[in-house]
Amino acid sequence: MHPILDRPVTWAIGLTLALCAATATAATPDTLNGAAPIIVAHRGASGYLPEHTLAGYELAIRMGTDYIEPDLQLTKDGYLVAMHDTTLNRTTNVETVLGTRNGGYLVSNYTLAEIKQLTVEPTGTGKTSYAGFTPSYPDAFKVPTFDEVIQLAQAQSALVGRTVGIYPEAKIADPLMEDKILSTLVAYGYGSSSDKVIIQSFSLDTLKSIRAKQDALGLSMSEVFLGNSAASSFADIAKYVNGIGPSISSGGANAVTDAYIDAAHAANLFVHGYTFADANPLTADAQYDKYFGWGMDGVFSNYADLAVASRNEFIAAVPEPATYAMLLAGFGILGVGMRRRVR
Ligand code: G3P
Ligand code: CA
Repeated sequence: MHPILDRPVTWAIGLTLALCAATATAATPDTLNGAAPIIVAHRGASGYLPEHTLAGYELAIRMGTDYIEPDLQLTKDGYLVAMHDTTLNRTTNVETVLGTRNGGYLVSNYTLAEIKQLTVEPTGTGKTSYAGFTPSYPDAFKVPTFDEVIQLAQAQSALVGRTVGIYPEAKIADPLMEDKILSTLVAYGYGSSSDKVIIQSFSLDTLKSIRAKQDALGLSMSEVFLGNSAASSFADIAKYVNGIGPSISSGGANAVTDAYIDAAHAANLFVHGYTFADANPLTADAQYDKYFGWGMDGVFSNYADLAVASRNEFIAAVPEPATYAMLLAGFGILGVGMRRRVR
């Protein structure tokens, strides 16, 4: 053994390499583009505050989400509003304020002025307030228009110093909705694949139509086809959209697995899974880790804070191959030095 291994410099080299490895940053996740997985605030911070409200979107942004997700419906007078259901009664006080129209509560039977009289109420684990958070907007619990959601995202982006993305979902297959989504996005400066906007739908026909309209207008915004498509259809789907949005709760042949995500990536489709709804930080972290480890490119989460924390820990914890080599070399040199000293 070379005498240098008896010297303090041996220990210094070994310790330095091991420490460098232990403190090394920069992980390369197994996502389609190697970037960190994105966090999408599913219906806003819907686990904490009423879904699809300015308050919920703002809280999610404060929690560090990358995108906010407005599901979209059309009012009777043709305005896009952020609402999941085709009806108003699950999430608002329409029953007491406006009553039924044609025997029901379809959004499409009420004008925007009428819908603006309603208050959005919490569902699930949501509450009417969140400790330590005061919404910045006077109508924070009213049904917002798509315009208002975008205005919030852009204003909050300036405030928090990062670009908050918009992830609108066409909830009905309707050419008018397609046109209004595109014209609204263009009016606010979106239009390119490099813009932080993704248009989603469960209807491939809707997405094909939006793609055709984008092509005609010289637009190239990303699109996502929701649902658990068969892997055998990925190549065809990839002709029209940039990614898929499968349910992580679906079982069977098209359940989201490591292999399913790999197959999507092989077709050049990114994968944004929905819905991450575990409120327990420990079990939620394990769930996020599993899907991030499989290379999932993004998650729709009701608890943006938990998703952001897990994502950030995941990125910090995944060593690069060079880091492994550094760690092994450091411990190897230390081991040799220790053997020399005990003889
Ligand atoms: O858009 C992804 C996810 O939100 C789909 O589920 O029903 O919450 O719109 P849903
Ligand atoms: Ca949605």
